[in-house]
Amino acid sequence: MPRSILSRALIAHIKEQFLLDWQGIHGVPHWARVLVNGRRLAKHTGANLKIVELFAFLHDAQRQNEGTDPEHGPRAAQWLNSLNGRFFHLDDREFQLLQTACADHTKGLTKGDMTVCTCWDADRLDLGRVGIKPDPAYLCTDIARHKATIEWAFARSIAQRRANKG
Ligand SMILES: [Fe+2]
Repeated sequence: MPRSILSRALIAHIKEQFLLDWQGIHGVPHWARVLVNGRRLAKHTGANLKIVELFAFLHDAQRQNEGTDPEHGPRAAQWLNSLNGRFFHLDDREFQLLQTACADHTKGLTKGDMTVCTCWDADRLDLGRVGIKPDPAYLCTDIARHKATIEWAFARSIAQRRANKG
């Protein structure tokens, strides 16, 4: 596998400014599963892996609470301006895709660029951690809607639910 775009320096920077529980429901265990989900989906969708990987670790990193926080997606999209060119290098098209993926990830959209759709599905496939089984109607890509994909992701996500409940 090619080297990930997620450098130690980037992850340290994310951690430094993250306001919530690093191990919480919107923290690093979730991001790590979104990353694995996204890589698996990308094999089928042809999504840009750099965007999928960055989305996994950035889309929730500007959250200010574990509830609705409707502006956390747009905040993450804005924050990207300070990261590109410093921790990673995306061209204009890639940057725009990552911004869209982050800004709109809570809007419930099911159509868009295939890379953006792959990001959203990777996130939604991890809803088991908050007790929600992903509904194919709210997924964007054919591969994510497969029963086998949903079951695979759900089994991994509910492990965190059990862990959090102690
Ligand atoms: Fe998320």
